[in-house]
Amino acid sequence: MNIQDFIRDIPDFPKPGILFKDITPLLGNYEALTSCASKLANLSPRDIKVDKVIGVESRGFIIGGMIAERLEAGFIPVRKKGKLPYEVKSKTYDLEYGDDTVEIHIDAIKPGEHVLIHDDVLATGGTAKAVCDLVEELGGIVVQCNFIMTLDFLNGSDKLKYPVASLLSY
Ligand code: PRP
Ligand code: MG
Repeated sequence: MNIQDFIRDIPDFPKPGILFKDITPLLGNYEALTSCASKLANLSPRDIKVDKVIGVESRGFIIGGMIAERLEAGFIPVRKKGKLPYEVKSKTYDLEYGDDTVEIHIDAIKPGEHVLIHDDVLATGGTAKAVCDLVEELGGIVVQCNFIMTLDFLNGSDKLKYPVASLLSY
């Protein structure tokens, strides 16, 4: 099963000059979807029991949930600003133009819990860094940042002080 075959390049989306990596063909194929989730779960640290898997809104929710099931861990949604109903911690990070904010429920992680962060893509690393900061502020221990793909020319992993795992790099 070659995951790469199920990722479609869309030129000039959402803006001119951006080559968008569309994972919907992967999501739509049962074998590709389950293989992707299993491979990512198998990349998690063998020697550490993962307590919680974070999925980052929105494209990190789908496979993040599947990884949590495979690791017998709980699932935590990290959401964009204003979407979570209970008390939150927030982190704002820079985008190419402007900024964005992600939030987590304050009781999502107990101090000392081992947390695996999943998202579909590591690009500049701003999103993943903000999520790592939220986990740290709640006293959690990030064991891995885990992605379907990394866009290595953007050097996102330089922003992260935790192990990075991915199935594909471009
Ligand atoms: C995209 C992607 C990652 C993030 C990576 O999400 O799904 O979450 O950007 O970029 P970065 O490494 O430069 O921070 P986006 O914010 O576009 O939202 P979406 O997942 O809801 O489509
Ligand atoms: Mg995203």
